[in-house]
Order: sequence, then structure tokens, then C-alpha cells
Amino acid sequence: MSDTGMAWDFQVSKGDLHKSEIVPSATTADTELKDGDILVKVERFAFTSNNITYAAYGDAMKYWTFFPAPEGWGRIPVWGYAQVVQSKHPDVNVGERLFGYFPMSSYLKIEASRVKPDALVDASAHRAGLAPAYNKYTRLPAASALDARAEDNNAVLWPLLITSFLIDDFLDEKGFFGAKRVILSSASSKTSLGLAWALAKRRAQGIKVVGLTSAASRDFVKSTGWYDEVLSYDDIEKATLDDALFVDMAGSIETRSRIHHHFGDKLKFSLVVGGTHWEEGGRASDLPGPHPEFFFAPDRIVKRNKDWGREEFDARTQGALKEFVTAASGWFGIEEKKGQAEIAKAYAAVLNGKCPPDKGYIFLM
Ligand SMILES: NC(=O)c1ccc[n+]([C@@H]2O[C@H](COP(=O)([O-])OP(=O)(O)OC[C@H]3O[C@@H](n4cnc5c(N)ncnc54)[C@H](OP(=O)(O)O)[C@@H]3O)[C@@H](O)[C@H]2O)c1
Repeated sequence: MSDTGMAWDFQVSKGDLHKSEIVPSATTADTELKDGDILVKVERFAFTSNNITYAAYGDAMKYWTFFPAPEGWGRIPVWGYAQVVQSKHPDVNVGERLFGYFPMSSYLKIEASRVKPDALVDASAHRAGLAPAYNKYTRLPAASALDARAEDNNAVLWPLLITSFLIDDFLDEKGFFGAKRVILSSASSKTSLGLAWALAKRRAQGIKVVGLTSAASRDFVKSTGWYDEVLSYDDIEKATLDDALFVDMAGSIETRSRIHHHFGDKLKFSLVVGGTHWEEGGRASDLPGPHPEFFFAPDRIVKRNKDWGREEFDARTQGALKEFVTAASGWFGIEEKKGQAEIAKAYAAVLNGKCPPDKGYIFLM
């Protein structure tokens, strides 16, 4: 297919994420709406390993449910911006922009519900029961408070930083399970970097942060200054033996097993967060130490919104994002990828762990 203004979907084979294709979309500029619906045109979105993990766990975690695709294929959810191009909702205007969860497609039809001045929800039947954080769309004021660069930073970093912030908050709430050392796998991922940055502020509490990364990213990870110790995966057994907890962003069974065996009883808690090493995933049985628990940011978002109220929650998380962007401004950069060919190439780069760790990709439709 060509890039000539036709509506298209980027879809991947559920059984083999290395297989992707671009196909004409069933949702186009002329899609008919019923009362209450809106049609948005996807403008730009972020693409990181987080999105690959949505695909790798698409069935188990219901990520394929958001944006249906033909049998055997899936449309990966992404965080980004879209513009309303048709509206049959009295309170939503053509021309306004939304930030939220979109498919890698030209258009999305939304059943607009709970429309408030600052947000609306997609109440489409197939999205019922999925995490509220994914069904909510932020309505952006006509004169956006953010410039294009700040919007791109927001698309890449907000879903990741909010997770880093909430893990730090969770560990603090639990008194770090009595540990003084926090070990992070995929230390070069933005979610780990955000957590390392937050934890580095706890040095006075005696918390030390250990990063595990690939040999190629070691120098970069060290250069951030947020880790007290940085080891390549080959050197896991050299990690200082101390009461520790493990936050697993990589999801590699081999890495998790080696951490549990190395620390044994000194491992006080083991938290599974991500699957950047998605091809090394699986189930590990008979691990020494604590049973790994799963962390799901959208659940913690619901909890902290209730505990703190929405305003306070937004102020704290937006404050953290702003601070992180400033702290990372010396190295973090956005790289834009435009059009079908570049998007397909950049998808493969992220899938294979080839996006440089100091970059965030933005795909332009
Ligand atoms: N549970 C939740 O609620 C939640 C919420 C947000 C994010 N997450 C998870 O956090 C993880 C990090 O996401 P991110 O977007 O921050 O990542 P990212 O910045 O795109 O991370 C890139 C890094 O991941 C590793 N990597 C990526 N693909 C790889 C591959 N094919 N083979 C080997 N290593 C690979 C490499 O790090 P190393 O060389 O350092 O290993 C690479 O530098 C994701 O798995 C995501 O799902 C979970």
C-alpha cells in the first residue's frame, strides 16, 4: 500500500511479532457515526518497548481487546495524540485534540461518554471492563499548554514515568521490605531510568540502586549517575550480597533465576514489572527466595486516585514527570519516524532492542 492519504492499519501477527503488515483500514474519514460517537484522526504517538510488551502479553493481559483486528492479527496500543474529525456528540467539537490510547491506525471511532471539560471516556462495548487508565482520553485546550517537543516528551515518558513513580511510592509504602538495595533489570529502559532517578533521591535513607543492563548500554547507564552499581547481565553473580529487592523490567527467566539464586534468603521481595526481553519470558518454578509478584500500574493508579484524590494524584505525577524531563535533558532526545516505511523499520528496531536507550521514538501518521 502507498502513503497517499488512504486510511491504514499497522498490524502484527499475534503468533510472530516479527511479522508485521500495513493494510487498508476499515475505519476511514467517511466512517458513519451514531449519536454520541466521535471519529479521531491519529496524529503522532510514542513507541517504546512498553508497546512491544503490550503485544507480547496481548492475550494474557487483554491488550489485543482494545483495537480489534482480523483473526490472527493484532493492533498494538500506543500513547499519543489525535484530532477530532467528525463528532456526533453535542459536547465534543470537530478540531479539538485528545491525548490517550490509540491503535497504530489512521482513525479511531470512540463512543464518547462521561464527557467533562478536561477528559472523556470511550464506552465502546468491547472496551468495557478494561483498565480505566486506558479508556480515558485527555481533552487538550485549543491553545495547548505544551509545545510540540513537550507533547512528544509527554507521549514517550508519561506512561513510563507514572509507573516509575508508582513503584517508588509502593516500595516506600512497604518500607522497601526491609531491603537497602534495589536491583533493576533493563536498567537502560526509560521505566527503570525513571525509577532509578526517583530512588536516587532516597540515598539519604540508605537506599542503593543496582542496574543490570546489556554490555553495550553499561556506559550510558552509568553516565546518568542514578545507579550506585551498574552490572552487565554476564556479571549478575558479582552483585554485592546484601538484603535486596528485585524489580524486573526485563522479564527474562534466566536473569530472574540467577538473581534469586545469587541472593537466596537475602532477597526480600521480587516484583515483576515488564518484559523488555520478551523472547526470554516464561515461567520459572522452584526459585529460592520470595515468590515474584506482578505490578500493574493501572491498578495502582486507581488506588492512589482514591487515596489522594484526582487533583493531588495529577499534581504529584505531573510534577515528577516535569522534574525527570529536566533531569534527563542532558541526554534524552526524541527521534521522529514518518510514514509507513520508516514506521515499519522503527517498529522492528524497538522489537529487537535496537532503539538507542537515550532516544524516544515518535511515529507520525
Ligand atoms: N507493569 C506495568 O504496569 C508497566 C507499566 C509501564 C511499563 N512497563 C514495562 O516496563 C518495561 C520497559 O519499558 P520502556 O518503554 O521503558 O522500555 P524502553 O525504554 O524502550 O527500553 C529499552 C531497553 O529494553 C531492553 N530491550 C528492549 N528490547 C529488547 C530486546 N528485544 N532484547 C533485549 N533487550 C531489549 C534494552 O535494555 P537492557 O539492555 O538494559 O536490558 C533496551 O535498552 C516494558 O517491558 C514495559 O512493559 C510495565
